[in-house]
Amino acid sequence: MNKFLEEVLAGLKDSPKHLSSKYFYDEAGDKLFQQIMASVEYYPTKCEMEIFSQQTEALATTLKNGFNDFDLIEMGAGDATKSIFLLQQLVNDNVNFTYCPIDISKSMIAHLEEEMPKRVPGLKIMGLNGEYFHMLEKAAKISSKRKVVLFLGSNIGNIPIKEAEQFCKDWRSHLQKGDLVLVGFDLKKNPKTIRAAYNDAEGYTRDFNLNLLKRINRELDADFDLSQFEHYPMYDPESGACKSYLISLKEQTVRIGEADFFHFKENEFIFMEISQKYSLEETDKIALSSGFKPIKKFMDSKNWFLDTVWECV
Ligand code: AVJ
Repeated sequence: MNKFLEEVLAGLKDSPKHLSSKYFYDEAGDKLFQQIMASVEYYPTKCEMEIFSQQTEALATTLKNGFNDFDLIEMGAGDATKSIFLLQQLVNDNVNFTYCPIDISKSMIAHLEEEMPKRVPGLKIMGLNGEYFHMLEKAAKISSKRKVVLFLGSNIGNIPIKEAEQFCKDWRSHLQKGDLVLVGFDLKKNPKTIRAAYNDAEGYTRDFNLNLLKRINRELDADFDLSQFEHYPMYDPESGACKSYLISLKEQTVRIGEADFFHFKENEFIFMEISQKYSLEETDKIALSSGFKPIKKFMDSKNWFLDTVWECV
């Protein structure tokens, strides 16, 4: 049985029901996420873009940390639109580094290996196709150079805050003393700004959530009626948890495959995604409790987004 099916069945048998946002990104999901990023309400990408395009020299200096050769690894590189500023700066500075993007998508890695040396002449690139921590191990086997690891886009927000510390401990265990990481965190701010970012007027975020049901229908032979589930986003300013749910609009039964049936009461929800928002103090606390020392913070001009640099101690 494949992992996707296994996780979907387990999540829907659980109470309350849940699905994993890591499965949002099929072809249609990738496209919807691009549309979310381009929407007026979704600010995180724009803020982090501002940091990378406006503070490039300072970023490069901090990440060099006095050394002139290292491996620059990026976890979940996507199309590298933000990191490209940093890559160009490091090439201009004659730094001896290899860019190692990690991505779960084979085609994304192939695309980066083809395109990035054209866009940044002189760039050395070695793509790593697989899961983050497996690929960190692989990178360590291939080269013993100091590692600098980027984890941008507030992807860490998809991990509930209680589990984020364990994630950072596992991350740290795949690195060596003196290695650096740069992590993007979306910061707590006016709750309305956050809620709007996950409830855009065009409905891209709604479709992004519903698209997972569509994917389950297609890939796992299920019969979700998308018109009978409603996107419900919420932000809790106290915990910083921004969560999205799909609400069943009526009592209904959904079939998956030949023999699995799931009953929904009217107004029963499926928990879909968390995008955790942090205070600066909370990010420092996570660093210190998982074997890192915060050494530098980069923020956009509105102070809405943080790219924080931690050193492995
Ligand atoms: C790609 C995980 C950073 O949580 O903000 C955007 C995904 N979900 N709108 C986020 C997302 C709804 C995004 N990350």
